Amino acid sequence: MSWRLFCCLVLTALAGVAHADSSSPARIASPDGRLQVELSTDGEGRPSWRAERDGHPLIAPSRLGMLFADMPKFERNLALTAHTTGAHDGTWTQPWGERHTVRDHHRELRATFTEQTGAQRRFDVVVRVFDDGIGFRYDIPRQPGLERLEIVDELTEFAVAPTATAWWLPALEWNREEYLYARTPLTEVGRVQTPITLRTDEGTHLSLHEAALVDYPAMNLARVDGQRLRADLTPGISQARARVSTPFATPWRVLLVTDTATALADSSLILNLNEPNALDDVSWVRPMKYVGIWWEMHLGTKTWASGPDHGATTRHAIDTIDFAAEHGLEGVLIEGWNVGWDGDWFGNGESFSFTEPYPDFDLERVAAHARERGVQLIGHHETSGHAAHYEEQMDDAFALYERLGVGAVKTGYVADGGQAKVRDEAGHLRYAWHESQAMVQHHDRVVRAAARHRIAVNPHEPVKDTGLRRTWPNLITREGARGMEYNAWGLPGNPPEHEATLAFTRMLAGPMDFTPGVFAMRTRSGAPMATTLAKQLALYVVIYSPLQMAADLPDHYRANLPAFRFIQDVPVDWADSRALAGEVGEYAVFARRDRHSEDWYLGAVTDAEARTVEVALDFLAPGQRYRAHVYRDGPGAGFDADQTDIVIEQHDVDAGRTLSLALARGGGQAIRFEALPDRP
Ligand code: NOJ
Ligand code: CA
Repeated sequence: MSWRLFCCLVLTALAGVAHADSSSPARIASPDGRLQVELSTDGEGRPSWRAERDGHPLIAPSRLGMLFADMPKFERNLALTAHTTGAHDGTWTQPWGERHTVRDHHRELRATFTEQTGAQRRFDVVVRVFDDGIGFRYDIPRQPGLERLEIVDELTEFAVAPTATAWWLPALEWNREEYLYARTPLTEVGRVQTPITLRTDEGTHLSLHEAALVDYPAMNLARVDGQRLRADLTPGISQARARVSTPFATPWRVLLVTDTATALADSSLILNLNEPNALDDVSWVRPMKYVGIWWEMHLGTKTWASGPDHGATTRHAIDTIDFAAEHGLEGVLIEGWNVGWDGDWFGNGESFSFTEPYPDFDLERVAAHARERGVQLIGHHETSGHAAHYEEQMDDAFALYERLGVGAVKTGYVADGGQAKVRDEAGHLRYAWHESQAMVQHHDRVVRAAARHRIAVNPHEPVKDTGLRRTWPNLITREGARGMEYNAWGLPGNPPEHEATLAFTRMLAGPMDFTPGVFAMRTRSGAPMATTLAKQLALYVVIYSPLQMAADLPDHYRANLPAFRFIQDVPVDWADSRALAGEVGEYAVFARRDRHSEDWYLGAVTDAEARTVEVALDFLAPGQRYRAHVYRDGPGAGFDADQTDIVIEQHDVDAGRTLSLALARGGGQAIRFEALPDRP
């Protein structure tokens, strides 16, 4: 009997049924039958998993297990003693998001591995198989001697069977997640962060990541040999990388598997593996566009620190609020408002006050002005990675913001990798990695405290996104990759392929506060940026974020109001999203439907190559006419030519049309499809 047929029969007949005492492999298939996962043990009782797609090996036998600091490892002398299977098909809705309704359709296998010697310790592995991927986790029940676990590392492996190319970031390096993605054969990666994107020689696309990272270190992957990667948990502040009490389940280890790059981008698997909303009413979490006192500090024309060039003055804040109000942008971010920025702020986390403004910044007056003008202030808490110092003040700081009507805060953890500061159980300060268990716990405390004050959080230099926004909808967006700021700092800024890479790598994890929308294409030194104006507009659709910045200076927008119109129009909350076309690191085209109208928006970006991409408009509502407001690269545009050459034009279309999107070198295109009223 074929494996596929076997799985179908088992699932139809035995969904939800327990199978006792079998040491033979346990299997489960995706709802469409294309993906199959098997759990088993070998002759020495070593547990492993493997996967096939369409009957071909996808993941060769790969180890499962764990190393502990204070007891023998979970690695051998284990038997698969029982398993159950189940299935689920349902939908749930997002309070805000890239789509309103999410389908969760999977089949589940829970297998128990029991030691055949000694204390007969046991653990479960739970596998969920979706049409577009696999999630599995260890679930360790409470049992005598296993009340507390000191986990040194996991032995979890992913032995990728077909030859693959990888797009990856190095792990445990000083610049955290802010490296450019490398593209190499999978056999050439070392120790990498997740998500990592792979494309097999046959064209199957994979992304390895994790979901629901709670009270545990982030998982990196280290190549053992060939195409075999092994979990490499982020180091902790003691020998154990994770210290937990049972019952305990690890985050889900995730493998997305799709035919195309675009299907990776359309996956909701990570969200489906997270717990539902833990906050009741989250109507206070408001997606919005915002401007800020920000870009000028990165250009070096203003300072966070006090002095003659201080950016966060009362006057400048009021002007910025007025600009936002006059142009219909809801939010204003003000950085450098609080005491602590003077001197070497990178290294002086303990100097920050999160409640005391600089004397030239009248916080009460600025907040009152924002309220009068109907603008939402976005607070700012740069911690320089001193999480312990921040925790001492954060309740007071959130209470202050709540009183002033500040509904969102951008946090920051600027410190080299390994140099965040936390307190251990004895109260001593310890240096920690940004993605250590201690920092994961810190962010959890921040998001809960913020929720108590009805404040949304946007961390920079964060822990990677693993879909926790489903559980904590006030964890609204985050940084966690090289954003626009690198273009302000100058060469090397972000290269032309950067955003087409992000769309199929970093963005698979969740929203990013990339801060697009730069109109004056000059770095600090006056050198040009490797982008085009039409691409800057397209990024509002390509790079999903419920908080979306208009990063440039108000004067630069005033100088080009026709192009700024797109930023004013584009929504930040979507009823639906589709990746229409794209290849990793080459180009990306997305369409998204507004949650509050029938309008659709499209964004397309390319790498250094000019290209024309044909897209069918069959996503539009049938029978409906739309006015396409097109913002495209002009004839002289290119990342290495005239960055600001843009053509803005309108024409009418319907779902039957195909558009040819002409993208300049390093360029892009943005379109608003405005639903037209029915003709009388
Ligand atoms: C790094 C953040 O990414 C950036 O946006 C911010 O301006 C600085 N930290 C200062 O907090
Ligand atoms: Ca940053």
